[in-house]
Amino acid sequence: MQTNFRGRDLIGDLDFTKEEVETVLDVAWDLKRKRALGEPHAYLRDKVLAMLFFFSSTRTRGSFEAGIAQLGGHGAFIDSNTTQISHGDTPVEIGEIFGRYFDGIAIRHCDFGDGNKYLNAVAKSSRAPILNMQCDIYHPFQCLADLMTIMEKKGRDLRKKKMVVSWAYAASYLKPVSVAQSLILQMPRFGMDVTLAYPPEFKLMPEIVEQAKEQARIGGGNFEIIDSKDGMKEACKDADVIYAKSWGPLLTTNDKAEGKRIQDSYKDWIMDAAKLKVAKPDAIYMHPLPADRDIEVTSEVMDGPNSVVFDEAENRLHAQKAVMALTMA
Ligand code: CP
Repeated sequence: MQTNFRGRDLIGDLDFTKEEVETVLDVAWDLKRKRALGEPHAYLRDKVLAMLFFFSSTRTRGSFEAGIAQLGGHGAFIDSNTTQISHGDTPVEIGEIFGRYFDGIAIRHCDFGDGNKYLNAVAKSSRAPILNMQCDIYHPFQCLADLMTIMEKKGRDLRKKKMVVSWAYAASYLKPVSVAQSLILQMPRFGMDVTLAYPPEFKLMPEIVEQAKEQARIGGGNFEIIDSKDGMKEACKDADVIYAKSWGPLLTTNDKAEGKRIQDSYKDWIMDAAKLKVAKPDAIYMHPLPADRDIEVTSEVMDGPNSVVFDEAENRLHAQKAVMALTMA
């Protein structure tokens, strides 16, 4: 069991080794149990987490803020628009100054091509750990909660379980690629057979896909890509876990109108009962939320017996508390 976390950043999914991820999950389950029993667990008394948002949030803000409070500390919500960042505060100022005020700096910055660079630049100047609340490349805390949820539903040994990470149509906006990228990096480490499915214009970052293949080789699972125009149903066949969500064609175009036009040509990539039916009968459906209801996924699936989306959202709280307790103590 590896326990050397104090002061460390979590920016990319592979920043923690597989053994360290196992420690995080152990601690997360312990904290989940303590909360259920009403046992105090104020491991971060008097510690303060900065929560700097460049993008909107429901779950991430709520779970980090509740989590740090339950650990005995305080979360300072900071909307980037209310800071002096647009008037000259660079990542150096944020890292140097917030690193002296706070015991951890959590940042959400999802702009494609900018977010991850920003987090890493702040990290270079900060004496406090940087926690990635989602960037353009990774959403590591979502992925830890997802892994925790899958283990709760399918058992701790995930070897040879089939996980489908599928693109789905959405009408609301061009969503980041980070959730899908984090999933394909983390799940193969635990031996899952990962099938990634998307229409041809929705490919992920090639360097992330190469890393995912390498993790699959090490973890002993398969990694397969289905990138045909109508591959969603084929991908779902015999799945144990279906994680179907939208992301933008960000590797194909940086023109939002063109991206929307491409996206609108795949409205049949909706997660529905017909696609769930070809999976294993006890398959689980996952989505990080928010979802475009009855566009990205039918209400029948999202509210149905195979859906675990609310347990998944709850586990954000426990996984994040674990990482905060380990890195900020
Ligand atoms: N899943 C997730 O990150 O949700 P929010 O965007 O609401 O934080």
